[in-house]
Amino acid sequence: MTDALKTFLTDLDLDIRAQGDWGQVADYIPELGRIDPAQFGIAVALPGGGMVSAGQARQRFSIQSVSKVFSLACVLGRIGEQIWTRVGREPSGQRFDSILALEHENGRPRNPFINAGALVTTDELLTGRAPKETLAETLGFLRAAAEDDDIHIDKAVARSEAATGHRNAALAHYLKSCDNLRNPPEITLGTYVHQCAIEMTCEQLARAGRVIAQLPGAPRMLTPLKARRISALMMMCGHYDGSGDFAFRVGLPAKSGVGGGILLIAPGQASIAIWSPGLDGYGNSRMGSHAAERLAHHMGWSVFG
Ligand code: DON
Repeated sequence: MTDALKTFLTDLDLDIRAQGDWGQVADYIPELGRIDPAQFGIAVALPGGGMVSAGQARQRFSIQSVSKVFSLACVLGRIGEQIWTRVGREPSGQRFDSILALEHENGRPRNPFINAGALVTTDELLTGRAPKETLAETLGFLRAAAEDDDIHIDKAVARSEAATGHRNAALAHYLKSCDNLRNPPEITLGTYVHQCAIEMTCEQLARAGRVIAQLPGAPRMLTPLKARRISALMMMCGHYDGSGDFAFRVGLPAKSGVGGGILLIAPGQASIAIWSPGLDGYGNSRMGSHAAERLAHHMGWSVFG
C-alpha cells in the first residue's frame, strides 16, 4: 500500500502545483504575510511507524491553531472534564476570532478551538505554572507524540502576532470582565501567541497526530476516550464556520491553522498533515482542503462509513 500511496501523493503534489489556485496568506500576522502562498507539502503516518510524504513535507511552517488540539490534550490530561465549566463544545458558526459570539455566550466560549476558547485553555494551563513552563508542557507533549525533540517556537512569529493582535487582546479582556480568565490578559495572550508560533514540518505533525488517531505503534499518551473526544471536537469545530463544508467534503476530523496547516485524523488508520499557506475565506488552507478531499476519497477514509 505504501508504494501506491507514494505514487498518489506525488501525482497530487504535481496537480496542485499545476492548478496554482493558492488563496491568500494570513497577512493580519505580518510575519506570516511575507510567506509565498505557492507551497505545498503532505505527510501520512501509518500504523506501525510507516510514513509516506510528498512535496515540501520537511519544510517547517507555523502550526498556529493546530496547536490548540495539543493544548486541549494537555488540559484534559491535567484537569479532565472540569475544563467544560469554562468552555463549551459546540460548533461556533462564526469566525475564529469573533467578538460577537463571546458576548452572546456570556464569556464562555463555544469551543476550545476558536481563539476565545483557546485563550481559556491556555489560561487554565498557566494555573500554578509560569508561561515558560506552560509552553514547555505543550512543546513537550508535541515532541513526545512525534518522538522528535527538534520542534521549536518561531519567536519572530510570536513577536509579530503579539505586536498586532488587538482582536485577541479584546477577547482576553472580555473574558477577564466575565471572570473567565485567571491570569492578567497580557500573560495569557503572551503564552498563547508563543504556543501558536510553534513550527513543525508535515512529517513531524503527522507523527504527533498518531496519538489522536490511536495508531498501533504510537506513544500511548491519550486514553481511547480522550482521543475520541478530541476527534469529535475537531470534526465539529476544527475548521470554524467552514467545519460543515469540510466534514461534507472530506469526512474526517481535522484542525486547521492560519499558517496553512491541517492535521487530519483517520481513526486507527492514519494521521495526515498537509500544508499550503494560501487560505480561503474562512481562514483555512485552500489547497490543503482540496488535497485532503482528494486523499480521503482516494483511500476511502471517512468516519461516516
Ligand atoms: O490567534 C490567532 O489569530 C492565530 N494565532 C491563530 C488563528 C488560527 O490559526 C485560525 N485558524 N485557521
